[in-house]
Amino acid sequence: MASQLHKTLFCATLLLLLLLLPRVPLVKASLGSQGSALLHWKATLRSRQSLRSWNLNSSPCNWTGVTCNPVTGRGRSVITEISLPSMGLAGLLDSLDFSTLGSLLRLNLSYNQLGEVIPPAISTLSMLVSLDLTSNQFTSKIPIEMSSMKDIQFLSLSQNQMVGAIPPSLSNLTGLVYLDLDNNKFVGAIPKELGRLHELMYLDLGANSLFGSIPFGLGNLTKLYHLGLYQNQLTGVIPRELENLVNLIYLSVANNNLTGGVLSSFGNLTKLQSFVLWRNKLSGPIPFEIGNLVEVTDLDFSENLLTSSIPSSIGNMTKLRELSVFNNQLSGLLPMEINNIIGLTYLQLGNNNFVGHVPPNVCKGGTLKHLSLHTNNFQGLISTTLKNCTGLVRVRLEHNQFTGDVSQYLGVYPHLSYMDLSFNRLSGTLSPDWAKWHNLTLFRISNNNITGVIPTEFGQLTKLRELDLSSNDLQGEIPNSFGSLTLLYNLSLSNNQLVGHVPLEIGMLSNLELLDLSSNNLAGRIPDQLGDCMKLRSLMLNNNNFSGTIPLAIGNLVVLQDTFDVSHNSLTGEIPSQLSKLVMLQSLNLSHNSLSGHLPSSLTYMTSLSTVDVSYNELDGPVPDSPAFRRAPAEWFAHNIDLCGVVRGLPPCVSPGTPTRIASMVVITIIASVVFFLLLFISIAAALRFHKRKKPPVPVDNNHVKEGAFCILNFVGRDVYKGIIEATEDFDAKYCIGSGAYGSVYRAELASGELLAVKKIHLPDTEGTCDEQPFQTEIQALTQIRHRNIVKLYGFYSSPRRKFLVYEYMERGSLGSVLRSEIAAELDWVKRLSIVKDVARALFYMHHDCTPPIVHRDITSNNILLDSEFKACVSDFGIARLLKPDSSNWTMLAGTRGYLAP
Ligand SMILES: *[C@@H]1O[C@H](CO)[C@@H](O)[C@H](O)[C@H]1NC(C)=O
Ligand SMILES: *[C@@H]1O[C@H](CO)[C@@H](O)[C@H](O)[C@H]1NC(C)=O
Ligand SMILES: *[C@@H]1O[C@H](CO)[C@@H](O)[C@H](O)[C@H]1NC(C)=O
Ligand SMILES: *[C@@H]1O[C@H](CO)[C@@H](O)[C@H](O)[C@H]1NC(C)=O
Ligand SMILES: *[C@@H]1O[C@H](CO)[C@@H](O)[C@H](O)[C@H]1NC(C)=O
Ligand SMILES: *[C@@H]1O[C@H](CO)[C@@H](O)[C@H](O)[C@H]1NC(C)=O
Ligand SMILES: *[C@@H]1O[C@H](CO)[C@@H](O)[C@H](O)[C@H]1NC(C)=O
Ligand SMILES: *[C@@H]1O[C@H](CO)[C@@H](O)[C@H](O)[C@H]1NC(C)=O
Repeated sequence: MASQLHKTLFCATLLLLLLLLPRVPLVKASLGSQGSALLHWKATLRSRQSLRSWNLNSSPCNWTGVTCNPVTGRGRSVITEISLPSMGLAGLLDSLDFSTLGSLLRLNLSYNQLGEVIPPAISTLSMLVSLDLTSNQFTSKIPIEMSSMKDIQFLSLSQNQMVGAIPPSLSNLTGLVYLDLDNNKFVGAIPKELGRLHELMYLDLGANSLFGSIPFGLGNLTKLYHLGLYQNQLTGVIPRELENLVNLIYLSVANNNLTGGVLSSFGNLTKLQSFVLWRNKLSGPIPFEIGNLVEVTDLDFSENLLTSSIPSSIGNMTKLRELSVFNNQLSGLLPMEINNIIGLTYLQLGNNNFVGHVPPNVCKGGTLKHLSLHTNNFQGLISTTLKNCTGLVRVRLEHNQFTGDVSQYLGVYPHLSYMDLSFNRLSGTLSPDWAKWHNLTLFRISNNNITGVIPTEFGQLTKLRELDLSSNDLQGEIPNSFGSLTLLYNLSLSNNQLVGHVPLEIGMLSNLELLDLSSNNLAGRIPDQLGDCMKLRSLMLNNNNFSGTIPLAIGNLVVLQDTFDVSHNSLTGEIPSQLSKLVMLQSLNLSHNSLSGHLPSSLTYMTSLSTVDVSYNELDGPVPDSPAFRRAPAEWFAHNIDLCGVVRGLPPCVSPGTPTRIASMVVITIIASVVFFLLLFISIAAALRFHKRKKPPVPVDNNHVKEGAFCILNFVGRDVYKGIIEATEDFDAKYCIGSGAYGSVYRAELASGELLAVKKIHLPDTEGTCDEQPFQTEIQALTQIRHRNIVKLYGFYSSPRRKFLVYEYMERGSLGSVLRSEIAAELDWVKRLSIVKDVARALFYMHHDCTPPIVHRDITSNNILLDSEFKACVSDFGIARLLKPDSSNWTMLAGTRGYLAP
């Protein structure tokens, strides 16, 4: 922010200077020709409402953003400045005839949507002193011709998508004062020639993809006050020569891969206000000389490999607002001198090896907002400083050895949104006052020694998303008021001494995804209302005293996928078959209860299960036969009354009289005969139907057809095969409208006027080896699929010599080809959105409404076809698989669902 302010100030000053410059534009072009060049450009813009004043009725000097100046001694004016920032202009810059605008001194087109190439002709503006193209959509390289703009002082191309290297020839612009190329896609090294731009005061190359080292020549740019090299892939050390840049106010090399140390000589840069080195590989200590930098407000050395302790000289940096050194290997005590810094807003020391106490005055100025001390070895009271620190927003103190009574030392923090006190040695009780932390979204205090009850007032923390009070010594009941924490997604109260029932209000926590109440002394029934927490992914109720049955409503928790654990309770009754609806569940633990009866056979539908434990119950009967159970270890089922079956180690199930195997064979025989008769019946019915139409689908007079199977739905009775061959002149190349890996597509206009797309399959060389039958059956299945957004497959022809598929004809061809053609301009956002919706509908249909579900496996713009109205249809699904029968799944979903691609 400071740098933004500087930038603005700087620009203003520069502009003022430039305005005062006594320049005599030496121009041949007249105002009239300049005006018509601008109007011509305006006409090419896609969006130009803001240029309404640009018209032939008024002088260009009166147009929005245009400034003229008289040509000395000539009695006429010329355009010297065009300034159109944030005018909503969209289009290209190429069509502006720069040759007429040689009088231009300043050109500002920043914050528009002008795009693509920066025209090389721009270099004809040889008098230009200021060019600002910030935040447009330029994607070109910097035109090499620009290195001839000798007078230019201000050049900003930042926030575009420019590519290529930064041309070394830029160093020919020796008058350059301001060069801003940040947030582009420049690659390559920083040209060392930039070190020749001695007038440079502002240089920002941040957020590109520059690599190599920082050239030491930059140390010659002694007028620099801003140097931004952040967020590139720079390596090597920060060159010592930078110590010469004594005018620097802002220095950022953050987020590179720089090595070496923080040099003591940087203590010479006494004007620095922002010193930003985060996320590099800098090692060694923070030099004592850092204390010389008394103007610094933002010091961010976090995410490096810095060692040793923070020097006491830091106490002289009294203007610090941010001190961030988290994620380093710093150690030792914090210097007491930190107490001199009273305006800190960010103090981030997390994840180091600091020991000792936190200086008592870190919040003396009352400005502290972010305090993170986590994962160190701090000890003692956190307290004294924080009680009055009402501005706190984010506090991370977890993983230290803080002690003390939390209820005494924490205050009222109306802005607090994040508070993590877990893994310390805190004692005391949870204070009802904390219910005034109205903005709190996360509160963790697990693994401490907190006692007492959970204040019912906590129900007022309605913005809470995560509440973790686990592993303390909390007593009493879970307050009913928790029902109002409707945003909560993670609630962990495990490992305390909570008693009583689970409040029925828990059902109101409709956003709850993780619930852990394990290892308490909770009793009573598991409430049915848990079945209303439809987003639950993990449910842990184990190690309590729950009694009664497992509620049937648990079956509603269809997204439960990690764990369902009710082990070590006193549950009775049968295992409800509704559990089988938890098809995503991976871990099911019902062990150590008194459950009785059979294991429901429907458990075999829980296809994602990877661990199951029903041991130590009173179950009997067969273990359901599923691949998962067949591989299961016997321990999962041990210590029951009489479980038997497929699990190795359990006794086989023997029903009295007939051995199971024979019984099942009898069943199979019965089913088989029923199916047989059913099929027979269907075929007779079908035959009768065909007979009624008296129009056999197979044109018997055709030789080709005789040798192959032919089936064209909706065209029954016509000689379609012959028609297709005639229409395409036996698949002549001139009818080919596209080809892919598996075949070529031909346009066939039948004599009747019907348009068809015919895909002729490339046959493999090993002719005749592939089995015809699966191909035909599966294709026939595909012809049954009917959806408005799926290309209709009318049928197929198949013989060992030739195979083709007959599709609905889509006028506009594939989305891919449309996007590459001129029609792309017609595809506005409304049409694009509607195409996306069409594709989504088709996929939804294939995934959810087809049995078995169909996985396309190759959705690309080439497989999405458009009709004349731009309605999108998905094509070619399943075909890839059909043509390579042994190539992989085209079946029911199986396996662990959480890990399947969507
Ligand atoms: C600019 O417009 C004003 C009125 O708005 C008019 O008086 C003046 O003559 C115009 N100047 C030129 C150079 O057209
Ligand atoms: C610009 O500088 C390069 C060296 O970086 C030099 O070779 C070239 O001749 C110069 N071009 C112009 C147009 O001055
Ligand atoms: C930097 O300046 C020194 C002395 O002023 C000179 O010797 C050196 O060549 C310069 N380096 C660059 C890259 O301009
Ligand atoms: C730094 O280097 C590591 C590998 O050494 C690489 O993964 C990472 O992307 C690099 N970071 C940057 C900002 O270039
Ligand atoms: C920078 O500081 C070092 C000591 O840290 C000193 O020796 C050196 O002369 C200083 N350089 C300049 C240019 O002031
Ligand atoms: C802090 O500054 C004072 C005076 O400016 C100086 O005397 C003292 O040595 C400095 N202390 C440190 C630790 O740099
Ligand atoms: C907190 O602030 C109040 C008034 O603002 C003051 O009286 C009290 O001493 C402060 N307490 C601490 C511990 O700083
Ligand atoms: C609460 O948090 C929201 C979002 O984090 C923020 O916009 C709002 O200003 C905060 N309210 C208070 C009182 O701090």
